[in-house]
Parts: sequence; structure tokens; C-alpha cells
Amino acid sequence: MSQKIRWGILGLGKIAHKFASDLQLSETAILQGVASRSIEKASDFATTYHAKKAFSSYEALVKDDEIDIVYIATPHALHFENTMLCLQHKKAVLCEKPLGINLTEVQQMIAKAKAQNVFFMEAIWTRFMPSFQKVHELLNENAIGEIISIRADFGFQTPFQPESRLFNKKLGGGSLLDIGLYPIFLSLSVLGMPSNIDASARFTETGVDSFCAMLFDYENGQKAVLESTFEVDTPTEAYIFGTKGVIKLHRRFHEANTVSLIKNNEETVFELPHAGIGYIHEIEAVNSCMLAGETENPKLPLEFSLQLMTIIDKVKSKIGLQYIV
Ligand SMILES: NC(=O)c1ccc[n+]([C@@H]2O[C@H](COP(=O)([O-])OP(=O)(O)OC[C@H]3O[C@@H](n4cnc5c(N)ncnc54)[C@H](OP(=O)(O)O)[C@@H]3O)[C@@H](O)[C@H]2O)c1
Repeated sequence: MSQKIRWGILGLGKIAHKFASDLQLSETAILQGVASRSIEKASDFATTYHAKKAFSSYEALVKDDEIDIVYIATPHALHFENTMLCLQHKKAVLCEKPLGINLTEVQQMIAKAKAQNVFFMEAIWTRFMPSFQKVHELLNENAIGEIISIRADFGFQTPFQPESRLFNKKLGGGSLLDIGLYPIFLSLSVLGMPSNIDASARFTETGVDSFCAMLFDYENGQKAVLESTFEVDTPTEAYIFGTKGVIKLHRRFHEANTVSLIKNNEETVFELPHAGIGYIHEIEAVNSCMLAGETENPKLPLEFSLQLMTIIDKVKSKIGLQYIV
């Protein structure tokens, strides 16, 4: 492998632009190639972000020997197919969240990555944000005592467009998979696996959830109250309540620049701005693993992604959401 990690990007939509913009900030990465179903789109994207090559198909990109790792930025329902294509060609993969649309897909993807002995990770950028490191630090210092509960929401109002990836069931639409994943990610990071899951949802006419409320119970009595919605703008904040205080991740908590520690009615505010658009932290974490020849990132191991999808599948089953594959 060369000293710089040579990245490829599959699917040149909204998030691919943000990711490519932050990739330019890295001194250990270069954008080797980008692939779209349209060569014009790939060429324009390559020009904007100084990619060395533009490909007119995903297949052509994965066959290129000069690409070390592929960032998959397609809609959820295509993550399985696109990841497997990369893994078959022994490419390392950073795949956008959620890794798949059900646990079976995620299990198969992880098994394939392990069999091919290549790096594989779910692109949960929040895990690498300075604000999230601060939360871990505060918890490790026992700053809020015993944790009692977590409350987190993620909601924005968006018009109903049946064909868009947010509402189209064939593309893995619905608030749970798209943004409900972040409150669940927080609860799993802090409290681990719940012992019981309850959930209630409202569905669109396309058969996906536009609102999902979740209540998780834990063996020792802890609780998590979580929500996702495309129907209204919600605070999109997260709180970890303890016996001695509260940690607050400010809006929008999945990309927070501010964390508060509230104790005895006094608030200590930590300003922790992320670099770039925020993706650079995850990019550098992946580059370090790639340069060290590691196949997983210890901060976001594949076991975590398995647990995350196990929880999501249980919520899906509670609300009666099933994707046809
Ligand atoms: N980490 C984050 O902060 C974050 C934020 C937003 C989204 N995401 C994740 O990123 C993924 C993509 O989201 P996005 O908002 O970038 O979506 P998007 O704007 O719709 O882009 C998705 C791209 O996938 C490709 N694609 C391939 N087959 C497609 C099909 N049948 N229908 C539509 N597009 C298809 C297209 O690229 P080509 O035409 O170039 O092939 C399209 O531009 C999602 O899984 C989402 O969860 C993550």
C-alpha cells in the first residue's frame, strides 16, 4: 500500500460531496477515483474534488488496482450489494449508515470482510467527533454518578416525496433507519444492549415510518427514551441523566460542537468544534487503521454494528416495519 490512502467513492449524491470536501483536508488521503451511474456526474465531481479518475460504473471503480478503500454513499438498501461488490474485489470499505437494512445483511457483510481480511467500518461520524470524545471522558471520570436514563431525539420536517430515498421503501426509507439510528447509537454507546424494547410509529402511504418513538429498558433499571421523525423539527438534543448531574449534547447532538455538564444547577459549557464539516475525524481514524494494517477500528468495532442492527431489527418488528429484499 502507498503511504497515502487512496480513496474511491461510490454514489455521488449529497453526502458524497460533503465527504469529498473533508477528504481534501487530510494529509494521509488522496481521492483516487469516483464512480457514478452517470459519467458526466462522475467527471464533474472528479474535477471539483481533484479526483484522479472518474468511472461510469461502480464495477469499473472496484476493479481499479490503485484504490485502497471505497466509501459507499448510496441509499441504505444498496449498501449490501455495493459493499459485497467491493469486498469481492478485496477493497477495504467505509459504508454509510446503516450498514444494511436488516441483521442478516450486516452479518453477511461482516463475514465477507473478515474472510477477505480487509478493513470494514460503518460510517457513524458521531463516534469520532470531539464532542463525543468529551462525553466519554466525562463518563469515565464519573462526572454524573450512576446513569439513570438517556433522552435523545432527531427530527426534521421534510415534505413527503414518495420517490425520495427518505420515503421510498425500496431504497430503505423511513426515519428509524435514517436518523433514529443516531439516538440508538448514543444509547448503545453509553448503556449497552437493552433488555426490553418498546416502540410506536406512524407510517406514510409508502409504508415507512415518518415517526418512531422508542423506550428501552436495561437489566439494572436504566431507561432510554428515544425518538425520530420526518414530520416536525425537534430539538435534536441528547441528555444523559445521572445521580449527580446531567450531560447535554447540544443541537444537533450527532454533530454537536457544544457539550454541557450540569451539576447543582450550575452549567459548565465545553466548546468542542469539529474540523471541516465534521467527517474529517472519521476519515483520519480510518486512515490510521489502514496505515497500521488494521481491519477494524477499536472505537467502532464490527460487533457494535451488529448490536446496533440487532436493536434496529427489534424496533422494526415492534412497529411492524419490514423491507422486502
Ligand atoms: N453520515 C451522515 O452524516 C450522513 C448524512 C446524509 C446521508 N448519509 C447516508 O448516506 C447515504 C446516501 O445519502 P444521500 O443523502 O447522499 O443520498 P442521495 O443524495 O440520494 O445520493 C445517493 C446516491 O446514490 C446513488 N444511487 C445508486 N443507485 C441509486 C438509486 N437506485 N436511487 C438513488 N440513488 C442511487 C446515486 O449516485 P450516482 O447517481 O452518482 O450513482 C445518488 O446520488 C444514506 O445511506 C444515508 O444514510 C449519511
